Amino acid sequence: MPVAASNPLPRHVAITMDGNGRWAKTRGLTRIAGHKAGLAPVRMCISECGSRGIGALTLFAFSSENWGRPAEEVGSLMSLFVESLERELAELHAKNVRMRFIGERRNLPVRLQARIAAAEERTADNSGLQLQVAVSYGGRWDIIQAAQSLARECSSGALRPEEITEERFAGALALAHVPDADLVIRTGGEQRISNFLLWNLAYAELYFTAKLWPDFAMADFEDALTFFANRERRFGQTSAQRSAASGHAS
Ligand code: IPE
Ligand code: IPE
Ligand code: MG
Repeated sequence: MPVAASNPLPRHVAITMDGNGRWAKTRGLTRIAGHKAGLAPVRMCISECGSRGIGALTLFAFSSENWGRPAEEVGSLMSLFVESLERELAELHAKNVRMRFIGERRNLPVRLQARIAAAEERTADNSGLQLQVAVSYGGRWDIIQAAQSLARECSSGALRPEEITEERFAGALALAHVPDADLVIRTGGEQRISNFLLWNLAYAELYFTAKLWPDFAMADFEDALTFFANRERRFGQTSAQRSAASGHAS
């Protein structure tokens, strides 16, 4: 189905890539095999965002809470992140993708920290898709680290507490460089946030699908965009106010 023209494309799509373990289980495979199978839809989404002109994509790969999984799964995931970065970086760079990682990276294995730093540095001047990968990320962690950095500025005298506005607070968060998420997609059937972007999804449209992440295909991404295109985003105003505003704009 073509995307309706009424609502523009999202500027920023954020995805909770859930369901890898269940996908593997139904096939009698290991959980890590499910995580590996999740790489194909990652590539598809990056390529679709690039070709459609969606400016920013944020992928939730590993949450603060995922540290509580069995050590073997955590270790395999960390290795998978290192290997995938090694394998994909040249192509991402060739596609003009600007990569950033968000999350508490001090907790990550040193070899992954090094890969992350190299990927961010190599793609720093790219002007295409802004790709954020959330690893060791939690929405609460993000808010706390922003509060701490503003508190440090206040205690050094560089900032007064009353100067902490929404804009300044947002500027201290991990996603300061991209607009708020317009569309959040979650695969795997759960209808919850699981500590993903808390501040930045204040007015996002939420799209939940039962599809397990490794099965998430181009047509599913298109369905999510169609869902977004058909939403009326009112931002607290009335429908009449919004249509008057869009009427004047056109
Ligand atoms: C999402 O898939 C990937 C991570 C959280 C790392 P899951 O591993 O949560 O898959 P399910 O929910 O167990 O199926
Ligand atoms: C959310 O999935 C985190 C990621 C996809 C990285 P989880 O599988 O960890 O979420 P819960 O625990 O079911 O809420
Ligand atoms: Mg899960």
